[in-house]
Amino acid sequence: MITIFKKQKVEKKEENMPKDNQKKNNPNLIEMLNKALAGELQGIIQYMWQHITMVGKESASIAPILKKISIDEMKHAEMIAERLNYLGGEPITKPAPIKVGHGFEEMLHEDAKAEEDTIAFYKEIIAKADSEKDYVTKLLFANILTDEEKHYDQFTVLLEN
Ligand SMILES: [Fe+2]
Ligand SMILES: [Fe+2]
Repeated sequence: MITIFKKQKVEKKEENMPKDNQKKNNPNLIEMLNKALAGELQGIIQYMWQHITMVGKESASIAPILKKISIDEMKHAEMIAERLNYLGGEPITKPAPIKVGHGFEEMLHEDAKAEEDTIAFYKEIIAKADSEKDYVTKLLFANILTDEEKHYDQFTVLLEN
């Protein structure tokens, strides 16, 4: 009787152990995180290049905003890469295609479009992470999403002015 009880207890314990298959992961979520990372690397370079090379009187007000957003994207890239590493994936080093645009309006359109696409994609990641009960990844992307919505708002406001 005691032996049976012990056996059951052991089985129960194994059931409750942190599942390493979360680490071994789902290749799909890893792929999505790497695509997100490539987009963040794109953002860092795109906004940095824009704020550095910007000329004209509008640059005094727009360049500091772009600089700040570029730094936000770097923080995102680092957090996503850390999560990828934890999940057993290999963080990508290649950015998604960089689109700097020509002139303020075209440039800001490219930036607003990049943020809009990012927002839609991060909502997909949040849904996917939730379906896999990966609540840490879900929370991470929900937090990053609040920044991306702010960025989108900043770019669209600049386009209106
Ligand atoms: Fe970002
Ligand atoms: Fe952003």
